Amino acid sequence: MPRRSSKFYMDDIEEAQVCFTKSQVTATWSAKDKPRLSILQVAEKAGLEPAFGCRSAICGSCEVKLLKGQVYGPEGDYPQGILICHSYPATREIEIEL
Ligand code: FES
Repeated sequence: MPRRSSKFYMDDIEEAQVCFTKSQVTATWSAKDKPRLSILQVAEKAGLEPAFGCRSAICGSCEVKLLKGQVYGPEGDYPQGILICHSYPATREIEIEL
């Protein structure tokens, strides 16, 4: 089951394929990018326009469903969802319902 976790460290992987399923867009996330890009920033870089508000994991407006893989990010009461403004891939493949 996909999940978010704080048990992973962002240095666990160097690169990940991020598939945005509704948009049918796949983008590459790289740990080498400085500053390191959140999944929200990866989506924007790929030309998508996800909803967002605070970009600080406070408002919840960027919450989307994680369909596959795991991410490093804030834990909280987001059933099946993740806050992509502060989430980073923890597995080499992830799928996001976006
Ligand atoms: S943009 Fe507010 S929680 Fe992500």
